[in-house]
Amino acid sequence: MTAIYPGSFDPVTFGHIDIINRSAKIMDELIVGVLNNSNKISPLFSLEERIEMLKDVCAHLPNVRIELFSGLLVDFVNKMGAQAIIRGLRAVTDFETEFQMAQINKSLNDNAETLFMSTSPQFSYLSSSIVKEVAFLGGNVDSMIPDSVRFKLLGKIGRFGKVEKV
Ligand code: PNS
Repeated sequence: MTAIYPGSFDPVTFGHIDIINRSAKIMDELIVGVLNNSNKISPLFSLEERIEMLKDVCAHLPNVRIELFSGLLVDFVNKMGAQAIIRGLRAVTDFETEFQMAQINKSLNDNAETLFMSTSPQFSYLSSSIVKEVAFLGGNVDSMIPDSVRFKLLGKIGRFGKVEKV
């Protein structure tokens, strides 16, 4: 089975990587779909940067590839010949939005089945937004994102090392 793991990945976190690794074990092929037309306030990383970081962290997974998509997710599912959409669930607070999204997608494309995977407990508090906020405020994000992503993030925000707290 081919599945799509869609998202903004601004930037990819250990939480995303956990879902990618586990899904890749179950699926024949996993396509990580990077959204190109996010209605979120402009992403910190360009599309090219987000794709490059994902390619880097997925390099060890032969059945995973990274593609960008714009427009409806269900159209991308069709275009890729996929049968499923993978979404990670961190906590009950994710459920309402995710359930709504799954139902909308199913109503738009009856072939697009959403499969929820529960995030590993050590990553349940993680999101790209929280990582960016912590990094911007000088906090330590070592346990949240891979080194390659951390260097890029700290580069973006104008610091190249940890800020010592007093
Ligand atoms: O990483 P995110 O921001 O949680 O990912 C959200 C994403 C990309 C899965 C969602 O915004 C999406 O599927 N957008 C594509 C537009 C679409 O299909 N909208 C209708 C269903 S919500």
